[in-house]
Amino acid sequence: MKKRILAIETSCDETALSLVEAHGNLSAPKFKILKSVVASQIKVHRPFGGVVPNLAKREHLKNLPILFNKLIPKSQKLKAIDMIAVTVGPGLEPALWAGITFAKDLSKKIVIPLVGANHLEGHLYSFLLAKRAKSQKLKAKQLFPAVALIVSGGHTILLEMDSLAKYKKLGETRDDAAGEAFDKVARLLKLPYPGGPEVEKLARKGNPHAIAFPRPMLDQKNYDFSFSGLKTAVLYYLRDKKLFVDSRQFAISHRLKADVAASFEEAVIDVLVKKTMRAARDTKAKSILLSGGVAANRALRNRLQKEAKKLGIQFFVPDFKYNTDNAVMIAVAAYINFLLGKKYRLIARGDMNL
Ligand code: KG4
Ligand code: ZN
Repeated sequence: MKKRILAIETSCDETALSLVEAHGNLSAPKFKILKSVVASQIKVHRPFGGVVPNLAKREHLKNLPILFNKLIPKSQKLKAIDMIAVTVGPGLEPALWAGITFAKDLSKKIVIPLVGANHLEGHLYSFLLAKRAKSQKLKAKQLFPAVALIVSGGHTILLEMDSLAKYKKLGETRDDAAGEAFDKVARLLKLPYPGGPEVEKLARKGNPHAIAFPRPMLDQKNYDFSFSGLKTAVLYYLRDKKLFVDSRQFAISHRLKADVAASFEEAVIDVLVKKTMRAARDTKAKSILLSGGVAANRALRNRLQKEAKKLGIQFFVPDFKYNTDNAVMIAVAAYINFLLGKKYRLIARGDMNL
């Protein structure tokens, strides 16, 4: 049975809407992206060096009706939609409420059922949007058990997946998320927000082996991560070298700045990849699924892909546009939960997890 889903995502600093046609059962769900729109708030938050929750809410409230009219022009009929899905968590609560309230009003007005979606499940299931997942029939036997790594601005989670319905957390970060570490190091290097893509750009010009930053928790026999010490190591390195004069001055050559970025990136990737590969070997995984904003990092994608190939297992990562926050992944998560009969309450839950 086909389901046309209108999905809404406002958990952080992207207002995103999508219209997705989903069909198929849990062993072979298929998605046709009819339209996807995203309004980024980068310019609004950039002067503050990070996301300001109430500004995010204000921007979502402003952007939602504009994006809705873009997604579904007035001439188009709304009757063709079967379900509205909205992110209920995790994220910034004022931002989440903006989306939930908009979705509730819409669902009442056009009399279409509304369901809540978990942002992290959106990332987790986004591998279903990978080109390779579309071009080949996703045969469960070849895919599961899988190891999934979600790396975003708020989360770093490693999971074991036995099927789309059954997954278990293996480990997660004990402090900063990987994306958060990228953003914090970007700030130390006086790079603009959001820091991840900026650090990556700079890292391409540097030597990843120039500075031996620590690989936190790499030798521990668990699947947890810790990135706050790594960020501090970068801070101390800059201070010790008298490169970080004070908060206003910054006496660092472009060359060294690139080496710091590259060496930091290498340390993060080393930990993420080695722990993920260990989990894959331990669980006898048949595939590795990478998702979340940090999955947009080319060096991480390439390393993980190479390691998966070495181990003779499959690797899935969605297109770049579906790594960072978007509403297509929310439609995907809503459809999987519809098939599973799993429901979320329509209230904002900032600390929701998997
Ligand atoms: O999934 P996402 O868009 O939002 C959350 O759910 O948090 O992830 C955003 C995070 C930010 O920390 C951002 O700096 C990071 O993903 N990020 C990157 C890259 N692109 C985005 N980190 C490293 N390299 C990138 N290319
Ligand atoms: Zn996200």
